[in-house]
Amino acid sequence: MADRRKDPDRDFALGRVIAIVNDKGGVGKTSIAANLAGQFAGAGYRCLLIDLNRQANLADDLGYRGAEVDDQGAGLLGSVLASTPLAPMIDVRPLLDVVCGGARLEDLTPIMVSRLQHHGRKAFRVLGDVLAPIAADYELVFIDCPPESTILSDLALAAARWVLMPTKSDVGGLVGMSLVAERFLLAREVNPRLGLLGVVLFGTGSRSRAIHSEARQAIDRAFGGESPRFQTTIRHAERTAQDARRLGKLAHELEIELAAQPAWWEALRSNIRAPRVSATAASVAGDYRALGVEVLTTLQAAEEAERAEPTGSTSELP
Ligand SMILES: Nc1ncnc2c1ncn2[C@@H]1O[C@H](COP(=O)(O)OP(=O)(O)OP(=O)(O)O)[C@@H](O)[C@H]1O
Ligand SMILES: [Mg+2]
Repeated sequence: MADRRKDPDRDFALGRVIAIVNDKGGVGKTSIAANLAGQFAGAGYRCLLIDLNRQANLADDLGYRGAEVDDQGAGLLGSVLASTPLAPMIDVRPLLDVVCGGARLEDLTPIMVSRLQHHGRKAFRVLGDVLAPIAADYELVFIDCPPESTILSDLALAAARWVLMPTKSDVGGLVGMSLVAERFLLAREVNPRLGLLGVVLFGTGSRSRAIHSEARQAIDRAFGGESPRFQTTIRHAERTAQDARRLGKLAHELEIELAAQPAWWEALRSNIRAPRVSATAASVAGDYRALGVEVLTTLQAAEEAERAEPTGSTSELP
């Protein structure tokens, strides 16, 4: 089992790496990764986003799909193969760099299967190894994990200091969560520092207390006892989600467009036919802002508690 005290520089560098994980598809992993990183970068924090998805939806959310710099995951694959530091795409937004995902990540799974046969679970540490040399350049690093791909998500879990898990409040979402809880425990064999930062309810149409409390009980059952979860929920807003991917803009960027667009009657009078940004963009941007504040406060509190720890032992959950 790895001992974090043997490798303090690597641990320091990876101390602000947050894997956004849930085996269930469509629970908001990519939207949360993109919007949190985008908002933090907009607020002056240097951020890195790593895309471990073959479908690479981050490219849609940030609007770089098909651009020359979009390498479809080739850079990430090459770094893992050659054990060389990751080389992100710089300034996708000011202060926001991205390691692209895409079709080239298909090749990562068979490579990892073979490495696992030879080296066991410690082979999963490779993502942390290629991330560590650049991670200290960033105040926050987010890894957007794929659905239903144990190997790619396991790579993220072995590199990250924290897990942020979005879930929907439906039964399927809550079952996906207990699968993550099992893999979380396995990942701690090679990454004992891994902690659960919190669970966030995504796309909730309902403000119903009963639904929220049911979801919270399921979260506690999955992770054992009182598990951290964020008070903020990301509201269901289909039109804003469509605007975001159609325009390659984040919720807070849509909010700015919204403020600048002419009132509907002016658009009608001037015969402006361009599609309009949905008015809910501002509320969704507000949800992500509130989540960002909670994430940062939770991180800072955990780091302060860790500094106060006499031995640096992190064997307790979360
Ligand atoms: N606030 C929202 N309300 C409703 N739908 C949303 C919202 N934000 C994003 N969506 C849409 O929900 C779908 C799932 O979101 P997202 O891609 O972020 O989830 P995911 O967990 O990353 O999915 P996957 O597992 O397929 O990678 C997408 O079609 C997205 O456009
Ligand atoms: Mg996704």
